[in-house]
Formats: sequence, structure tokens, C-alpha cells
Amino acid sequence: MKAIEITQDHKISIVERAVPEISSTEVLVKPTRCGICGTDLHILHHGFVGTHYPCTPGHEFGGHVVAVGKDVQGLKEGDFVAVDPNVVCGECRWCKAGRPNLCVQLAPIGVGRFGAAAEFVSVPSRNAFRVKQSIGDGAAAMIEPLACALHAVESSQGVRGHNVLVFGGGTMGMLIALAAKAQGAGSVAIADPSPAKLLIARQVGIPIAKTPSEFNGDPFDIVFEAAGVTGALTQAMGLLDKTGTLVQVGVHDEDKMVPFNPFILYEREHKFIGSNSCAKQFEPAVDFIEDIKTQTEALIGKTFSVWDFEKAVNSMSSGEAVKTQLRFD
Ligand SMILES: NC(=O)c1ccc[n+]([C@@H]2O[C@H](COP(=O)([O-])OP(=O)(O)OC[C@H]3O[C@@H](n4cnc5c(N)ncnc54)[C@H](O)[C@@H]3O)[C@@H](O)[C@H]2O)c1
Ligand SMILES: [Zn+2]
Ligand SMILES: [Zn+2]
Repeated sequence: MKAIEITQDHKISIVERAVPEISSTEVLVKPTRCGICGTDLHILHHGFVGTHYPCTPGHEFGGHVVAVGKDVQGLKEGDFVAVDPNVVCGECRWCKAGRPNLCVQLAPIGVGRFGAAAEFVSVPSRNAFRVKQSIGDGAAAMIEPLACALHAVESSQGVRGHNVLVFGGGTMGMLIALAAKAQGAGSVAIADPSPAKLLIARQVGIPIAKTPSEFNGDPFDIVFEAAGVTGALTQAMGLLDKTGTLVQVGVHDEDKMVPFNPFILYEREHKFIGSNSCAKQFEPAVDFIEDIKTQTEALIGKTFSVWDFEKAVNSMSSGEAVKTQLRFD
């Protein structure tokens, strides 16, 4: 089969490789659509924690089951599935504590093991979730980022009735805003410097969409930093109301430092909470995507053939589209 391969020296190539052999508890999936995101750019340009090179990227995907291991129950050939890429050990302290995203042996598909930018990909059956065909290829490949967004909202310890501000109108920020709205936030606003993103935010039902500098007045109960930019984090801290919660979703460089004022943290009883990956929110995301299918599809910008991976990555770097996806036709 053909597969995309990224080597540690930042090169992308199309390689020929044997179709993966599946274990008794795995299924073989033929991808139909795969999103690319900042993680893929990190894998390509710098290296990302847990990456195994050569790496076949692709961790946001859906597809059809084409073979089933002998011990697999509940899945059969032909099923349309979305895949939680986070393959965990199930044995460590964090897995046992119900925190699989913190597993010490985490090996995500498309990062620590071969991903979906290939004709076939092997998937542990417990990571494959059957979805209705009517969800469509594009939205099915948005379930993984949606699950991360749901975990971010879960990490905030509840948005109901609260005024929420989301920094970043990328895939994460938009999906967090949509999830917060659906979960009964009092109001939801998005801050992004890109006029194109602000327009899309309004189109998907987030009318308070403004540039960061326009948020200089009233404070918010909950602020999500989903831009991954230090300036956004600094501004986010300054916009927290008393008892406010800041959820750190954006992934900063590992050695990046940001000054914060401990007196304000104490005096205003702020909470700073990190949110990492999708935790146990994949199944809820499979359900929730049905409610926001139209909005989710509006976030999908250009699609490229998987074999044009480099073109797709370059287009994504231009920053115009919210989500760029790979097709397999
Ligand atoms: N915690 C998780 O589970 C998780 C999951 C996926 C992605 N991420 C991280 O979340 C961040 C966002 O991911 P994405 O896929 O949406 O990325 P993205 O690049 O599509 O979106 C980032 C957005 O932030 C905007 N931005 C830039 N500077 C800003 C500022 N000062 N204020 C407000 N917005 C600003 C950009 O215009 C862009 O629209 C990244 O750092 C990514 O690595 C985290
Ligand atoms: Zn991703
Ligand atoms: Zn574990």
C-alpha cells in the first residue's frame, strides 16, 4: 500500500509499505477523510512529544472497517467508524484513575504509531466508534478535535450560565465555543485577529466575534486560551473576573514562559486549568456532532488528495481556512 512518511529531517515522501497486519483485537480501517492540524506541523517541522519517526501522520479521521481481528466484538467489515487516536496501556496509574489522556505509554495513531495518511491503518477495536454514514466523511473526521473541545469545556468545570470568552478562532476555539453554547453558557465570545475567522465564527452562530484588542472592558467568568500564543494567554489572564477560570488548551513550546501575577491569582481567587487531548470525551463527541453537523462542515475549508500532503500542509500554514482535510478518492 501507499503511505505518507515524514522523516526526522523534515522530509515528506510517499512510500510503499505492506498493509498493516492486525492483531486479534484490532481492526483495519480504510480512511475516507483525515484532518490535519498544528500537531502535524509540529511533527513535520520540529518534532512533537511522543513522535516515532519515520511517522505516517493522520490522527483526525474516519473510515470504513475492511478487516476485523478474531477477538473483536461489536464491529464488522463495512462499518463506518471515527477513530479515537489515543492508544493507551489501560494498566498505568492514570489509565486506572480514568485519565487515559495522561497514560504513561500513550502512543497516538499518527504520532507514536502509523497514522491515517495511508491506504490502510490498524486501529485497536476499542478506539473505533461506529458512526452513522449520514454524518459524512468531513464531519466524521472532525469528531477527534470536537472530543478535545468537549474535554476543554469539561475541564472548565461547567459553563452553564457563565460568560465565556475563547481566544482563537481556529478549529479548537470554534468547537469550544459551539460546545460551550450548547452546554448553556450565558454568553460566548471569540477573539481572533483574523477577519476571515471572525466572519466564520458569526456564520456558525457565535455573534460576539471580535479582534483581541476589542476585548478591553468587562471581565469573563471562563476564558479558554485556544490560540497557542503567549500574547493571548497574557490577555486572557487579565480578562478573568473574580473566581474566574482560565482553561489552557493551546499548546505552547515546551520551554516557553509567561509571567503571571500571583497576587491577582490569590486576591481574585482565579483558577488555571490545563486541558490535554480528548480524555473520555470521544463517545460524547460522536453524539454531539449530530447536533452541530452543519456548523462543523462550515469549518472545513480546502480538501486535498492525501498524496498532495505537502500542498495541504503549505495551504494550511497560510492560516485562511479553519480546518484543512485530506481526501482518499
Ligand atoms: N489541548 C488540546 O487538547 C488541543 C487539541 C488540539 C489542538 N490544541 C492546540 O490548540 C491551539 C489551537 O489549535 P487549532 O487547531 O485551533 O489552531 P489554529 O492555528 O487553527 O487556530 C489558532 C487561531 O488563533 C488565532 N490567534 C493568533 N493569535 C491570537 C491572539 N493573540 N488572540 C486570539 N487568537 C489568536 C489565529 O488567527 C488562529 O485562528 C494550538 O496551540 C493547538 O496546538 C490543543
Ligand atoms: Zn489534531
Ligand atoms: Zn496507561
